[in-house]
Amino acid sequence: MKLITATQAHLPEIKHIAYETWPATFGAILSEKQIAYMLDWMYSIPSLTSQIEERGHVFILAQEGDEYLGYVSYELNCNGLPKTKIHKIYLLPASQGKGVGAMLINHVGEIATENENKALLLNVNRYNKAVGFYEKMGFNIVGNENIDIGDGFLMEDYIMEKPL
Ligand SMILES: CC(C)(COP(=O)(O)OP(=O)(O)OC[C@H]1O[C@@H](n2cnc3c(N)ncnc32)[C@H](O)[C@@H]1OP(=O)(O)O)[C@@H](O)C(=O)NCCC(=O)NCCS
Repeated sequence: MKLITATQAHLPEIKHIAYETWPATFGAILSEKQIAYMLDWMYSIPSLTSQIEERGHVFILAQEGDEYLGYVSYELNCNGLPKTKIHKIYLLPASQGKGVGAMLINHVGEIATENENKALLLNVNRYNKAVGFYEKMGFNIVGNENIDIGDGFLMEDYIMEKPL
């Protein structure tokens, strides 16, 4: 297993993994229309490019042989604070439950510490079972946030934080 930093050339692969993973993750939580709206908003190639080039997000891919299993994206010093925000973490359904998610979170934690950040921070849908994964990884729920994302859609999130 290798962890590599994604470049522009990897963006179609990231988009592909998202489209494979989101229906299984959110099918029971969000409407089909909201899933399609959010995928288009966050995973078009121009949107991914702007996340990397303008918003300081770094994407790390987990690679096994020729195959990409999933990705995490993070942003150091989010909102000018010494905290690293994990914006996205998605593994293909067949690659979940094998320790890869823990490896990605720990990797980002190491990078955050090297950059003198004191905590990892993320938003997660309140009904996503990933909440249990984050708790296992040492995150605590520190708040609730309902975000209006347009077109009548809402994100109902917990804010979770892990001290480093
Ligand atoms: C959430 C996700 C990233 C976790 O990665 P993973 O590789 O499946 O998880 P791991 O195998 O590394 O699990 C690490 C530990 O957390 C535990 N864990 C995993 N999922 C859990 C859950 N839902 N509830 C409680 N514990 C959980 C595992 O048992 C493991 O514990 P152990 O160290 O005692 O064995 C992955 O399952 C995924 O991509 N899910 C779908 C997408 C998603 O929901 N992303 C998050 C969006 S905010």
